[in-house]
Amino acid sequence: MYQLYINTIGCQMNVYDSDQIERALAPSGYTRTDQIEDADLVIVNTCAIRAKAEQKAFSFVGRLAKLKQRKPGLLVGVGGCVAQQEGEKILARAPQVDLVFGPKAIPRLGRLVERVRLQGLRVVDTEDSEGIQELDLASGFRDDGQVARFVTIMQGCDNFCTYCVVPYVRGREASRHPDRILEEIRTLVSGGVREVTLLGQNVNSYGRKENLGTFAELLARVDRIKGLERIRFTTSHPKDLSDGLVDAFARLTKLCPHIHLPVQSGSDRVLERMNRRYTRAVYLERIARLRRVRPDIAITTDFIVGFPGETDADFKQTLGLIEAVRFDGVFAFMYSDRSVAPAARFEDKIDEAQKKERLQRLLQHQEVFTLKASKALIGSVQEVLVEGLSTRPGLAEDQTAHRQWSGRTPGNKIVNFDHDADCAGSQSVHPGLLAGVRIDKAFSHSLWGRPVWIEEKPGGLRGDTCHAA
Ligand code: 5AD
Ligand code: SF4
Repeated sequence: MYQLYINTIGCQMNVYDSDQIERALAPSGYTRTDQIEDADLVIVNTCAIRAKAEQKAFSFVGRLAKLKQRKPGLLVGVGGCVAQQEGEKILARAPQVDLVFGPKAIPRLGRLVERVRLQGLRVVDTEDSEGIQELDLASGFRDDGQVARFVTIMQGCDNFCTYCVVPYVRGREASRHPDRILEEIRTLVSGGVREVTLLGQNVNSYGRKENLGTFAELLARVDRIKGLERIRFTTSHPKDLSDGLVDAFARLTKLCPHIHLPVQSGSDRVLERMNRRYTRAVYLERIARLRRVRPDIAITTDFIVGFPGETDADFKQTLGLIEAVRFDGVFAFMYSDRSVAPAARFEDKIDEAQKKERLQRLLQHQEVFTLKASKALIGSVQEVLVEGLSTRPGLAEDQTAHRQWSGRTPGNKIVNFDHDADCAGSQSVHPGLLAGVRIDKAFSHSLWGRPVWIEEKPGGLRGDTCHAA
């Protein structure tokens, strides 16, 4: 048996891919460890979306040189988007690396690692094959106690936003067959998973190319899976948000009332230069439609500040959009050049200090709305899917640090509640149970409350247990 340590950098897609890496290497005798010192193989699953993420990958690879000196038999692999982008160059730059593989090489990983281990070769596999290679489901899933899991439904992207590296490193858009997706979700559910997040760069165009049915149809099938409690998805592209999907929010009981709908900018001029193919007005109209069918829907978004040529007037439009939409939360990033993406060659680059200043202003502007969205829930009873014990400091009356249960509302807000004192009645708490939590306190990024009901579920659940006094 060998020990495998994976460092995952980047988005949910990489979290899913790391699980796939683990599954691909299981038949070769690898089991995952979270102790890097015990590892026989260390893999860093990299992200290329922004310069910072790429630097993080290289600095981790740098540190592995020392570990390898102490442990000469250690194998080092670099996977993910930076691996796909840089290929052989990584071998030249980092002599401690034995294997470089792109996201599409994961199903071939067993053979690649064997070549490294048995033949002592340094191997690169960044072949960009068409379509999707499925991993054999028989290689199973490790039961790591998670109650919410990601499931990739499509790979790649055909949108070519001018700032974005994804179409170059993840290749053309390709959708998985719905039967494979359903099979995977059923397997997860039979292992105790109760929430799935369907992943794709642009889930709204799911199945279009391959004639596999629409995303709304896929959601309807997933909704019928017995034992599954909640469905989420990410990411949606505003230009492809169909009436069918809006309708799904009205009809499907398991579909959580939350959508992450990256807008990137509030200025039509910038949106056009980004090649986003929608306008501010179209975006606002889609939001209005969603709210009409699901008034409680939580809406989150991504912004890029300091895109080449972004003027103060453009930036004001972005701040104005924040006010017009009243997002529940936003992720905002300073534009960073990606050499393969066209915007790297655009003129009128914004200097770092200005980007930083705009980022701060944007986040400050949003803060009020984030807090408002959280505070609106005070006094309400929220259904929380308990995910586990949180180790963060306690938010109870006495402000002492103690362990708390943690989970999320249907609208994706984190809720913490007391570990021992507050279990309702005589019911015990486990990860995977639903609990009704009355919200007492609201912070920007979490809520705190007391359970008023806890789902009854006989046996078979896992994890820590809280028995009420
Ligand atoms: N610079 C800064 N942010 C970027 N994003 C994508 N590419 C870049 C880039 N070159 C952001 C977008 C996207 C999120 C995942 O990352 O906001 O939605
Ligand atoms: Fe990148 Fe645009 Fe595709 Fe999203 S839709 S992955 S931002 S190219």
